[in-house]
Formats: sequence, C-alpha cells, structure tokens
Amino acid sequence: MRSKRVLIGVTAGIAAYKIPLLVRLLKKQGFEVRCVMTTDAKEFVTPLVLSALSENPVFSDLISDDKSWNNHVSMAEWADCFIIAPLTANTLAKMANGICDNLLMSVYFSMKGATLVAPAMDLDMYQHPTVFRNLELIEKDGVRVIPAEFGELASGLVGTGRMAEPEKIFNDINVLLFSESNSHFEGKQVLITAGPTYESIDPVRFIGNHSSGKMGFALAEVFLKKGAKVKLISGPTNLTLSHDNLDLIHVVSADDMFNEVKNYWKEQDFGVFSAAVADYRPKEVSLDKIKKKSNELSLELIKNPDILQWAGQMKTDTQFLVGFALETSNELENASLKLENKNLDCVVLNSLQDKGAGFASDTNKVTILDKRNNKTEFSLKSKYEIAEEIVLHIQEMISS
Ligand code: CTP
Repeated sequence: MRSKRVLIGVTAGIAAYKIPLLVRLLKKQGFEVRCVMTTDAKEFVTPLVLSALSENPVFSDLISDDKSWNNHVSMAEWADCFIIAPLTANTLAKMANGICDNLLMSVYFSMKGATLVAPAMDLDMYQHPTVFRNLELIEKDGVRVIPAEFGELASGLVGTGRMAEPEKIFNDINVLLFSESNSHFEGKQVLITAGPTYESIDPVRFIGNHSSGKMGFALAEVFLKKGAKVKLISGPTNLTLSHDNLDLIHVVSADDMFNEVKNYWKEQDFGVFSAAVADYRPKEVSLDKIKKKSNELSLELIKNPDILQWAGQMKTDTQFLVGFALETSNELENASLKLENKNLDCVVLNSLQDKGAGFASDTNKVTILDKRNNKTEFSLKSKYEIAEEIVLHIQEMISS
C-alpha cells in the first residue's frame, strides 16, 4: 500500500512558524508531504525550510519564476487530504465565497479528498460574526475545522485564537485518514442474513443444516466498526453480538427470515445474504409428534422462497447486494450464474472442496466474483478476515 499523502496549505499567520514541526511529525510517521503557501506566508516561514523538511519543492504561485505552470489540479489529485494551517480570516473568506486568486485557493477548489483547516487569528477577529458565519459555511461544504485554542492571559482574560498545536493537527489528520469511522459505511443501513434456517417437521423435529452463522456475525462486526447501522437477521445459532447500532433479529424458518427481510429491505443501502437458507420445507407440519409406526416415512417437501432472489428483484439503483454461493462442482460457472440470475453486485463463492473452508470451521477460502467481471481469489483466512475483505471489496466497488 502506498504512503498517505498530505498537502499542507500555509497562509500568512504567525502560527506558520509551527508548520515545520507538523511536517516533521507527518514525515516521521511515513506520510508523503507537500506544501503550498500564499505569497505573504513566506514572511512567516521560509519555503526553503518547508521544502527541506518535506523533501519536496514548495510552490506559491500559479506560474513559477521560470515561467513554468504549477498544476493545481494534479496537486489536488495527488493529495489524500489538504490541511490549511494556519488559516487566516482572509483565506477563510475566500473559501466561503468561491474566490480563487492564488495557487492555494486553486488547489482548494480542485480537491476531491478531505480538507481540514486550523484557523488562527486573534480573539476579536475569531469572534467576529462574519468569521463565524464563514466557518459555518465551509463546514457545510464538508471542510473539517480544527478549532483554535484559547488560553488565559496574565490579566485573567481569555485571549488569542491560537492555532491548534501541530500534535493536535497531526492527530486529526491520522484520525481522518485511518479511522474506521472514516468510511463509506458511516450511518449507512446494512442488512445481513446469517446462520441456518430450521424447517419444522413436527413440534420436536426440523430440517436444518450445519451453518454456524459465524460468517454473518463477522460481517456484522466489520460493518459496525465502520460506522454502519446493521440489521442482522439470524437463524438459530449460539452466537451473540451487541452494539448500539445493531438490531439483531432472531428467526427460525426461511419463511420467518423472508418476512423480516421484506420488512426492512426497502430502507437498506447494502444487503449481504450469508444465511444458509433451507431450500425446501415440509409441506405439512404435524401438530403432534410423529409416532414411529411403519418402516418407512416419507416427507413431502415444498420449495421455500428464495429470499436473495426477491431482494435482487426489488433492488434499486442505489442499493448494493451481495450473495453467497456454496458450490461443490462447476463452482465459478454456477457462482456467476447466481450473480446474474439474482441480480447481485457481487457473489462470494466458497467451495467445500477447499480444506479448512466450510460451515462449522473458523476459517474460509473464498473467491469474490463481481458484476464488473472481476474475480478475486483469497487464501485461507479467518471468517473475520474474510468479512473484512468482503467489506473492502464493496468499498472499492462503490468508490470506483
Ligand atoms: N438464499 C436465500 N434464500 C434461499 C436460498 C438461498 O436468500 N431460499 C441465498 C443465500 O443466503 C446465499 C445465496 O442465496 O446468499 C445462494 O444460496 P445457495 O444455496 O448456494 O444457492 P441457491 O440459490 O439455493 O441455488 P442451488 O441450491 O441451486 O445451488
């Protein structure tokens, strides 16, 4: 994986003298760093210092002295995040009002990644209603504001809107670029089916299968970590999970599971159907325990609803649907048929032929096929790791 890239925009505030420290912290952590500055910022910190520490040239003009063009779009594309520090009231006003009159502003308006700002100005300025309004405006545009700090003056009054310390800015950049919650799934609704289904024969017997539910529960855990709201509809298992954003719904039969999916599918952003749903159920469920009488007993079975197929039919353009396929022969062919017939975005194929893979085990070996005709094979991994890979695959598909 390549290093994360941080672009620092330095504007003309006294706190600019602290930016070399920020560059050092970022470089030490293994980030690639570049700096752009406004012309006036050079009065507070020299481009030479920033260039030496960042090991990259520092630009401030759209056109350099040698008449070469400093491409702001490629700089913005290069960066995973842009931190403008210190942020002056002047640059803030330009951001809030779409004024693009220097290289730094051109980069800002071309940024696709996140922008953070660390304002620095004296207290009166910081509390001016215009500045306050402009900060609100840029926050509405998605800019993250790292608030200035206020300290007590010797006189006992609260003074100065001092720029957040480089360590604090460095931490916020880390959280932004690495935190689990910085994900495509924050606040999204995810429906997961898990476990086996039990189809009653009589009050004490059922038709079931060996599914443990581990895969579905691991998926729920990974989505929850990424900030999603999860509805986990699970057949009978020994597993438990609790989380503020989890709604765990216990079901027994395929019909029960289908009813719950029908209740909730419409409002979901993602569906991952890992349950091993019984394809058939007894046509009649005996109200009394079936007595052993004759030497043979036949059970008439009827087909259960295909829950995944129904979700695929109902799927809207904004919903993303993942199915599982457990195959014993012609695996790839069968799995891609499922992908197509059930209108899925991707299908996770697990083969019972792979050692260490399967229902009750803690490990699994899967291949993900997706509707872009991509095939990704994974080595034997824990079910939790597989869940992480599946979620990463979804993330990659929705962001490409
Ligand atoms: N599935 C479902 N409802 C069913 C049967 C299956 O939601 N009644 C879902 C499973 O959760 C899984 C996928 O469909 O995501 C594939 O299940 P599988 O049993 O492998 O395939 P089937 O579609 O049942 O086809 P076949 O049994 O013919 O292989």
